[in-house]
Amino acid sequence: MAVIPSHQRQGIGSQLVRAGLDRCAALGTRFVVVLGHRDYYPRFGFLPASHFRLWCSWPVPEGVFMATELVLGVLASAEGLVSYEIEFNDV
Ligand SMILES: CC(C)(COP(=O)(O)OP(=O)(O)OC[C@H]1O[C@@H](n2cnc3c(N)ncnc32)[C@H](O)[C@@H]1OP(=O)(O)O)[C@@H](O)C(=O)NCCC(=O)NCCS
Repeated sequence: MAVIPSHQRQGIGSQLVRAGLDRCAALGTRFVVVLGHRDYYPRFGFLPASHFRLWCSWPVPEGVFMATELVLGVLASAEGLVSYEIEFNDV
């Protein structure tokens, strides 16, 4: 996700994230993971994925792989490796 610099800090990024999460919830998605800025996504309810015992396959710094429940409690008994589509290996 990105907002062009001249339009940043006007709430556009927040609206995009919230709209995306709302859309995911409407589609029945139960949880969402993100690799991103650890100081940005917590405001949308994301926690370090390790809190849910979830990990990704890349050696990323602590806290940048995050998750949030769209259905409260759905990750309560989760544990494991989150597999991304192979295209993400090139990002
Ligand atoms: C991250 C990004 C999408 C935010 O978009 P935006 O429209 O400026 O976001 P908003 O206006 O909704 O929110 C701005 C808030 O986010 C904070 N913020 C922006 N980038 C941040 C970052 N990298 N880490 C922590 N906080 C960040 C700002 O300090 C601001 O905080 P405040 O509300 O307390 O003042 C935008 O800065 C961007 O495009 N960055 C470059 C691309 C990028 O890094 N994308 C994220 C990949 S995970």
